[in-house]
Amino acid sequence: MNFQTVLAGLPDAVIAVDEALRVVFWNSAAEELTERSARRADGRVLKEVFPADASLVRRLSETLATGESRSEPEGTVERPDHRLVPVSIVTAPLFDRAGRVEAAVAVVRDLSRIRQLEAEVRRGETLAAAGRMAVGLAHEIRNPLGAIRGAVQLLGRELGAQSPLQEYTSVLLTEVDRVNRIIEMLLDLARPVAIRPAPVNLHQLLERVAVVTEAGAREQRVSIVRRYDPSLPPILGDEDRLVQVFHNLVRNAIEAMPHGGQLTLSTRVSLNPLFGKMDLGAGQRSMVEAQVMDEGTGIPAAARARIFDPFFTTKERGLGLGLAICHQVLEQHHGAIQIDSAEGRGTQVTCFLPIAK
Ligand SMILES: Nc1ncnc2c1ncn2[C@@H]1O[C@H](COP(=O)(O)OP(=O)(O)OP(=O)(O)O)[C@@H](O)[C@H]1O
Ligand SMILES: [Mg+2]
Repeated sequence: MNFQTVLAGLPDAVIAVDEALRVVFWNSAAEELTERSARRADGRVLKEVFPADASLVRRLSETLATGESRSEPEGTVERPDHRLVPVSIVTAPLFDRAGRVEAAVAVVRDLSRIRQLEAEVRRGETLAAAGRMAVGLAHEIRNPLGAIRGAVQLLGRELGAQSPLQEYTSVLLTEVDRVNRIIEMLLDLARPVAIRPAPVNLHQLLERVAVVTEAGAREQRVSIVRRYDPSLPPILGDEDRLVQVFHNLVRNAIEAMPHGGQLTLSTRVSLNPLFGKMDLGAGQRSMVEAQVMDEGTGIPAAARARIFDPFFTTKERGLGLGLAICHQVLEQHHGAIQIDSAEGRGTQVTCFLPIAK
């Protein structure tokens, strides 16, 4: 076996350049990570393959210039579609017989899966902290709110049905009820009701959501498209809680398409390397994916890290609790939720749920 075969089989991307920064080696992990083929990269100057200020170009240039190794634990690599992949980079010089630097090699490790898992953990922690605060707050607010509601009802009765001031009492009641609903949701988040998992037909569940939203969606010129995998096995879940999840996701998708578009509901058995199999305590279990996809506004990069935070919203009448609740329900199911979004093109939300064995 020659060294090329060994390097080709490495899970980390290996990229080598000569002293003119021309690519002389590019293994298959590098092809996958950068989404650029070795055939196209070979012989080209690295600055033409990546932007001149890319971390990889900078580190390899420094190594060629100084003969020293460089490392960057938090770099990024830009894909042709401009998506950034988080990576760690380590470079090393290669010397000729005379001791001059004749080439440099970089080992680039894809950190996106690790970052995703870290984000999952952080999300869980933020939710727990917000939840604890909410319980305290909710108790303080509920009693005075009950008193206000009672007083407004009395006032309404005193005024009599014909009074023009009834307009104000009804606004008061609606808004008090809205605050009450927020508190109920917060308490749910803080002290989640235990789920009662049973085998569930995911397609019937999705249809429960689709049927009640379809008429409203049509008015907004949103059409619902189904792409269900007919061989999908039943999942293990709490039907009512999951209906809540898909209601939230479908509502977000419709709200993201104010000028209409297509909302796609799809299902499949998951082949995802990270979430395709989960440990439910009694060994590994296969997962299915249920996806809600829209052609809406997309999520701006700056907002992406915060969309699961309770109360993060970009909507005038939004509470910012939808996705926080989705995350929690999926966590209770030992599942996961993943969001991919391209600004101006749309959003794709994937829920991973365990199959019922
Ligand atoms: N499909 C989507 N397309 C674009 N942006 C989205 C989408 N889903 C979520 N978002 C963004 O994430 C934010 C948080 O969503 P979340 O569902 O948690 O709250 P919300 O929709 O604002 O309020 P609500 O509590 O009523 O659901 C939204 O305000 C929006 O900016
Ligand atoms: Mg929402």
